[in-house]
Amino acid sequence: MTELLRLEKIRKTFPGVLANDDVDLSIEQGEIHALLGENGAGKTTLMNCVYGLYRPDSGKIFWKGKEVSVHQARDAIALGIGMVHQHFMLVPPLTVAENVVLGLPLPREPLLDLSAVEKEVQQTGERYGLLVNPKAQIWQLPVGVQQRVEILKALYRKAELLILDEPTAVLTPGEVEELFKVLRSLANQGISIIFITHKLEEVMALCDRVTVLRNGRKVATVNTSDTNTRELAKMMVGREVFLDIKKPDLMPGEVVLRVKNLSALDNRELPAVKSVSFYIRRNEILGIAGVDGNGQTELAEVLFGMRKATNGTVEVLGYDVTNCSPLEIINRGVAYIPPDRQHTGLLLDFTITENLIGKSYYKLPLSKNGIFQSRPIAEFAASSIKKFDIRTPGPDLKVKLLSGGNQQKVVLAREMSGNPALVIAAQPTRGLDVGATEYVRNQMVEARNTGAAILLISTELEEILTLSDRIAVMYEGEIVGIVPAKGADIHEISEMMAGVLRVGDLTAMDI
Ligand SMILES: Nc1ncnc2c1ncn2[C@@H]1O[C@H](COP(=O)(O)OP(=O)(O)O)[C@@H](O)[C@H]1O
Ligand SMILES: [Mg+2]
Repeated sequence: MTELLRLEKIRKTFPGVLANDDVDLSIEQGEIHALLGENGAGKTTLMNCVYGLYRPDSGKIFWKGKEVSVHQARDAIALGIGMVHQHFMLVPPLTVAENVVLGLPLPREPLLDLSAVEKEVQQTGERYGLLVNPKAQIWQLPVGVQQRVEILKALYRKAELLILDEPTAVLTPGEVEELFKVLRSLANQGISIIFITHKLEEVMALCDRVTVLRNGRKVATVNTSDTNTRELAKMMVGREVFLDIKKPDLMPGEVVLRVKNLSALDNRELPAVKSVSFYIRRNEILGIAGVDGNGQTELAEVLFGMRKATNGTVEVLGYDVTNCSPLEIINRGVAYIPPDRQHTGLLLDFTITENLIGKSYYKLPLSKNGIFQSRPIAEFAASSIKKFDIRTPGPDLKVKLLSGGNQQKVVLAREMSGNPALVIAAQPTRGLDVGATEYVRNQMVEARNTGAAILLISTELEEILTLSDRIAVMYEGEIVGIVPAKGADIHEISEMMAGVLRVGDLTAMDI
């Protein structure tokens, strides 16, 4: 095996953060090498150093045995390095072929010969199983196909090393399988791949070797054939983790949430939720699966009174709350864990205590005749910090200074206080590390066990499968299927997520 890329002691700091702490890495020709680590471990930063988007503070980069300096992406591309970022950098109104040549030096002829480019894109696509219509405009293509365009763009520039930053985050399970096939075919033809992920199963299913990063440091590089998910999890988190959630079988109770023919528009005034109907009972978690952007967020906002319903009804414990204000809905016993805790979930410049009392400050015992009661407030804050294991030097710390996981615990502590009848949890573990994820999931199961109805919206299918009692799949604003979680067929759910299958009694109004 010949070594293609070698990093020696790459160090990169941001104000107050050591993002890469003298990291070594070696990539061989034709291998698929996973870069595994929790959120914030330094994976993207390290690869941005390789790709010339950041300058390392110190350390060396070797390409085919020679030391190189990469000052900008152009230098990396010239060496033969391609990178597909988490957020694609394509131009939506342009075609596939136009995007592929965008940014390349213009040829001497006044007009670019696009048909030649189209032909080459077609041929490259056939060679690696990356099928795309070169004449299609980007905005018309599903996300999974846009990702293929990004890969084609790198291959067109003769990349010998392809860096993919969390490429499966935006894909359905079916699309993930397709991508894996493409990557294996690329590797077989000698192209090296660095596959950034925090998902252990993907490392085991796809990669030859894996380098684990934790807190900016390299923990180890191992062959995937010599390791397993449990060991990798331990390296990644730094302690033993138990991702198995114990969920007792329970008989669901009365219907808490009943949604009938609910419709709503998105921020651009286009239909986002289309005549959706379902119910959730006590002691039950209904998971809503779907690729991001299929109306899930809008659905949660309508249920919580933050977005207007244009049609249909929402009932909580028999009360019609359609188009009521969030406060009225809270008073019916509804809790909301928003997908963007930094913007709508928390007041970042306020203290932990102030955030914790956000929902109950106007009620006894926290206030009496409109006057805050400092003792009960301090006791409430102290007990929440303890119960929800919020790691902080004290209750008066500003929330913005907490880590993502601890911020989410503040949201949970506030929302779960007072035993809500219904919890709407939208992407509750997004961006959290494994430890915090484990904690949040257990809290939701605990709430379910003690009688709450839970609507869990998540783009992580694994999370939906682990936590739910029933699974609904959303596609382009519609619920295309509702199935029991026990014995659920992943392939079937994946097809529903891709919009090619509808399953079950969609009115589901039998109770
Ligand atoms: N441009 C930046 N400015 C300041 N801090 C950053 C920047 N990019 C990343 N960081 C910090 O560096 C650390 C590593 O981040 P990142 O490389 O994005 O991790 P990963 O990709 O593994 O999730 C994190 O603490 C992050 O907050
Ligand atoms: Mg990253």
